[in-house]
Amino acid sequence: MPGTRGAVPVPLHTNGGQRDLTEEILEAVDQHEHVPTAEVFPATPQDKIKAALDRLASRQMVEYETHDKEQVLLTAEGQAIADEGSHEYKVWDAVRREGRLSLKDQTLANASAKLGQGNAFKLKWIKKDGDALVSLTDSVSDTTREQLQYAQEHRAFQDPKLLKDYSKRKLVTTQKVITYVARKGPRWAKEMPVEVTDLTAEMIADGSWKTANFKPYNFKAKGTLGGEGVGGGTGALHPLNKVREEFRKIFFNMGFEEMPTARFVDSGFWNFDALYVPQQHPARDLQDTFYVSDPPEAGPPGSDESVDTILAEMDVDDDQDESDHPPSDPATRAKDTTAKLDYQAYYNNVRAVHQDGKFGSIGYRYPYTDAETRRLVLRTHTTAISAYVLHRLSANPRPCRYFSIDRVFRNETVDATHLAEFHQIEGVIADYNLTLGGLQAFLKRFFRNIGVPDLKFKPAYNPYTEPSMEVFAWHEGLNKIVEIGNSGMFRPEMLLAMGLPEDLRVYGFGLSLERPTMIKYGISNIRELLGHKVDLGFIESNPAVRLDRE
Ligand code: PHE
Repeated sequence: MPGTRGAVPVPLHTNGGQRDLTEEILEAVDQHEHVPTAEVFPATPQDKIKAALDRLASRQMVEYETHDKEQVLLTAEGQAIADEGSHEYKVWDAVRREGRLSLKDQTLANASAKLGQGNAFKLKWIKKDGDALVSLTDSVSDTTREQLQYAQEHRAFQDPKLLKDYSKRKLVTTQKVITYVARKGPRWAKEMPVEVTDLTAEMIADGSWKTANFKPYNFKAKGTLGGEGVGGGTGALHPLNKVREEFRKIFFNMGFEEMPTARFVDSGFWNFDALYVPQQHPARDLQDTFYVSDPPEAGPPGSDESVDTILAEMDVDDDQDESDHPPSDPATRAKDTTAKLDYQAYYNNVRAVHQDGKFGSIGYRYPYTDAETRRLVLRTHTTAISAYVLHRLSANPRPCRYFSIDRVFRNETVDATHLAEFHQIEGVIADYNLTLGGLQAFLKRFFRNIGVPDLKFKPAYNPYTEPSMEVFAWHEGLNKIVEIGNSGMFRPEMLLAMGLPEDLRVYGFGLSLERPTMIKYGISNIRELLGHKVDLGFIESNPAVRLDRE
């Protein structure tokens, strides 16, 4: 709906134009260095105070400390004394008013009067005169009453030692309360600033996002998903995540290790050049690739420590097989592997094989430009990561299986089945003397595991695989054969440039995560699955899936 987004000021008045608590706290903090909230706002419930303080503290306008305090409360008997006077006072008062008060008088009959009488004797306020009581003084000071009145007003005794005595006499009890002391925070301001809740296309276009004051996320807010009932107020896994988990299990069961794929932005080198994609290839055109302008370019290809450490963690078993000394830690192993790799030599090989031909290939024979390798792109496929991992394999070439499932980006026209971003499932298998028949057999087994029995293969073209095969399967719902994946054997131009041995061959295959998910959940428009039009109710209520069962 146009016009409903954009800068949304946080209202200063939330209760019909009356000053709200947030403003009152700001006012108090402005005037005093420390604001003990229980004293400044005695009538306001502490939970309301805490909510207002949190609102200000999340913006760093105000800081506050929490204090545990013991408060004194009068019991009903204590309250009666504070209101009317102590038992001894009441006895003395009755005696004084009567002049002489007979010991048999009704006033002295009850329990509290008996107690008061004893105390009044001790205090020398009264004495016995025959069968009556007489006063010894014209005025008394009723300390008990005064001390209780003080406690009532201040919720504490003037002399803290009195608490034990009065508690024992059951005239007071105590109660723990939490109080707050507020003061100015690092981003102090006397007024709540106008805050922006949505980042809009206009803000990006006119640059106002740079100075906009965004409303902070409240991560403590209760979720609204679902409301009551099962799973109410909690999150729910997105169907793509559920299907992704199913695929991960299948890969792990088939002996694959997962590649770390956090590099959404990569260089032209890893996304294209390393994969023997010519620099003039149409896929590199602006129509297909999102280029990143800031930072302007990537550094030269080199090792990525975070990726290397994760890979080294997975290789722990290999190490144990090969040596009888205990394995070193992953960071050290990652460094040892990097030491065996020469990225400059690799780069020179890639340049040579594109421009002049090498490793028995005549190459593309065009002038290779370094600038193109340094351009930053939103990766168009996860094969960029596979290239990095395969190059790393040249430090210790051996049969292995890697997979990844993560997001890729393509500058495509968005329609019912295409978005500018989607998830790619990718597998890579390296082994000695692999054949195309072996790739077909593997793909049949893999797709049977996800419940797709009959595959058809069609020759295809990828710059980095030869031969390449598109994978097709029968789609029950659509009643026709549909493309479900792409595959091939990586080219020697790519693998030999990495320094891998000639007889180590590598299969690669890829498919989208969205397509099987849409089929499983019966979704016909991809925008119902991914993006801002997704219905949260659908996300919450969709069932878990098993790929191998209908
Ligand atoms: N990168 C290919 C794609 O984007 C998938 C693929 C990976 C194909 C590895 C062959 C080998 O569709």
